[in-house]
Amino acid sequence: MTDLFQEVKQKLDLVEVISDHLELSPSGPNRKIGFCPFHTNFNTPALTVYPDQQSWYCYGCQAGGDVLDFLTLIEKENMGTVVRKQAQKLGIAIRNLSQKERRKLEQDKQLYAITKDAADLFHVMLLWDTRGAPARKYMELRGITHETMTSFELGYAPDDWGWLTRKLLKKGHTRENIILAGLARKKRGKDSAYDYFRDRIIFPIRNNGNILGFGGRQLNPGQGPKYLNSPTTPIFKKQEVLYGFPQALFEIKAMESVTLVEGYMDVLALHQQGFKNTVGIMGIFLSQSQAKFLSKHVDRAVLALDPDEAAEAALGRLRVEAVSELDIYVAVLQGNRDPDEIVLEHPAEWEDILAEAQPIPIYMTDYLIDKFTPNDPKERRNIAKMIMPLINIVKDPFEQAGYQEYLADALGYTNYRPNPKCPHCGKPYYGDHK
Ligand code: CTP
Ligand code: MN
Repeated sequence: MTDLFQEVKQKLDLVEVISDHLELSPSGPNRKIGFCPFHTNFNTPALTVYPDQQSWYCYGCQAGGDVLDFLTLIEKENMGTVVRKQAQKLGIAIRNLSQKERRKLEQDKQLYAITKDAADLFHVMLLWDTRGAPARKYMELRGITHETMTSFELGYAPDDWGWLTRKLLKKGHTRENIILAGLARKKRGKDSAYDYFRDRIIFPIRNNGNILGFGGRQLNPGQGPKYLNSPTTPIFKKQEVLYGFPQALFEIKAMESVTLVEGYMDVLALHQQGFKNTVGIMGIFLSQSQAKFLSKHVDRAVLALDPDEAAEAALGRLRVEAVSELDIYVAVLQGNRDPDEIVLEHPAEWEDILAEAQPIPIYMTDYLIDKFTPNDPKERRNIAKMIMPLINIVKDPFEQAGYQEYLADALGYTNYRPNPKCPHCGKPYYGDHK
């Protein structure tokens, strides 16, 4: 164990740390007990803490160890990350950062300062500048209120090749860093740069503390694609972020569910109508890193997509669920309308759509049978073949049996009875055995 691990461990008090997550009550002179957060435990408190030894053990699920083990399990992070996070909180300097890591931290700080200044400049332009008036009007036309524009720090990049770069240079940022942050591009062979976003409505994309990158929607058609996102930079990787996550986190926790939609405008409209546990995946595919990230905060995710996209995304679930613990449901949008149109017209309809969300194997069964109306055993087999991989990756044997039964029923095999198997030994599953 390195010095840093030791130092962090010594500065943390096990009872204090655990008490942040559950209630501990005394039990004997040198013991405290509480309900274990790592397994289903609500009758007799199974988690026991020994303050003298700074150790803990759960008599129900056999988890245990020191304070770092507890934090690793509860935060679902690896130990290195836990130690680094705690060190930062405790103000312990991380001495064993390599020079390269230190340089990266320093550089990231400079880039965050640039994205912050840029977001402020875009925001003022949208809300107060005369050049922002058409963009402001357009957002109003789309039903977006002033309050939403403020809480999501929306902005506008004017139709100008050098406005932002000039402003940022004046604030003391270097041209090199402005380019590195993805806000300008170098002119070929010249020592100058031009603005990346022009005549676009700007959606800053942030994590809790910083603005990582931007989405830009063109205001007037004609110049380039409708949506343009920041390029990949040292602080922005589109696949790893979710639009609106910081604004949604509180409600995600409170509702124990997250709703995933495609677009920026959808997130804004849904939050505005009170559906604040919504985030944007920025396209139709939920990436593995997005799913993994979400699974640290919530178990249930509802993916709201149009019917064909939902089917496509369902087949992509193989990739996503392999690495995440998310329970993914699909909510289907009929009639070629985006969530923002639905929710601004009829908020109640959005609630119905969410309430009808289905687990992916169920959705796919209905979708494929509806699409192909199979009427001989070979056609039925082909449908089963497409769905079985989705069912086979379900870890819980009873949940899995439920999907098998549903599929068999839907295909008309009324006498089929699934036979849940233990995922470890393959024998029929009768409950607790290894
Ligand atoms: N998107 C993206 N990059 C693209 C295209 C799309 O990140 N090149 C993401 C954006 O988050 C966008 C969403 O996909 O909000 C939906 O894009 P699109 O279907 O093109 O948007 P529309 O619904 O047609 O347009 P609007 O946002 O104006 O409603
Ligand atoms: Mn749309």
